[in-house]
Amino acid sequence: MQASHQHSDLSFPIQADAPAWQAVPTGRDFSPGFAELRTQIYGWIADYYDREHLTRAGDWMLTLAPDAPEYLVVAALLHDLERKVPGGPKLEMAKVGWDDRDYNDAHTGRSAVVVPTWLTAYGADPELAEAVAQPIREHEFGGSPDGDLMQAADSISFLETNAALVAGWANRGLCTPAKALEKLRWMGERVRHPEGGQIARRYMELACGQFDELLMEG
Ligand SMILES: [Fe+2]
Ligand SMILES: [Fe+2]
Repeated sequence: MQASHQHSDLSFPIQADAPAWQAVPTGRDFSPGFAELRTQIYGWIADYYDREHLTRAGDWMLTLAPDAPEYLVVAALLHDLERKVPGGPKLEMAKVGWDDRDYNDAHTGRSAVVVPTWLTAYGADPELAEAVAQPIREHEFGGSPDGDLMQAADSISFLETNAALVAGWANRGLCTPAKALEKLRWMGERVRHPEGGQIARRYMELACGQFDELLMEG
């Protein structure tokens, strides 16, 4: 697979067969308010440390499911946003497993409150604001068809964009290199959606290769 250069200012390479940055499937009609809401969302996440991951989760949602309802695209674009609001749960990454149920349920449950609250405050359709909660709650473990799509979009996007973030945890001594690498493997291997799982495993291999290159010696 060859890297293309659709956006030279991005911190990760977009592969030639991956969706374009902020992609919209051809022939897909959205409601009149959707384009405006998406622009507002890109503004809201602009100063979030992992905005590329959120943006790509939306792009991958529309790649896996070109006819996905608008609430699922919005849910993908905002799924981790509780981390933008101080006071959230923290995972002790050196000691606790990446699939820890208590931490992940606290993280997804908090996002499932923060995101609808924000959407409502910005005047989004109340039905849409309500509909994002359940898929956001399921984005780490999947479950329903919507939840499995969310999990796949989250995993693929994370593996595409965050090898450097994960290598940085090891390089800064927050956890061992082996534990950091486990995060990439968990993100790839957990995916329940069949097609999404195949794509995620491919990106897991790419991410593990990048991780090895970024890991500091010693
Ligand atoms: Fe998450
Ligand atoms: Fe995520």
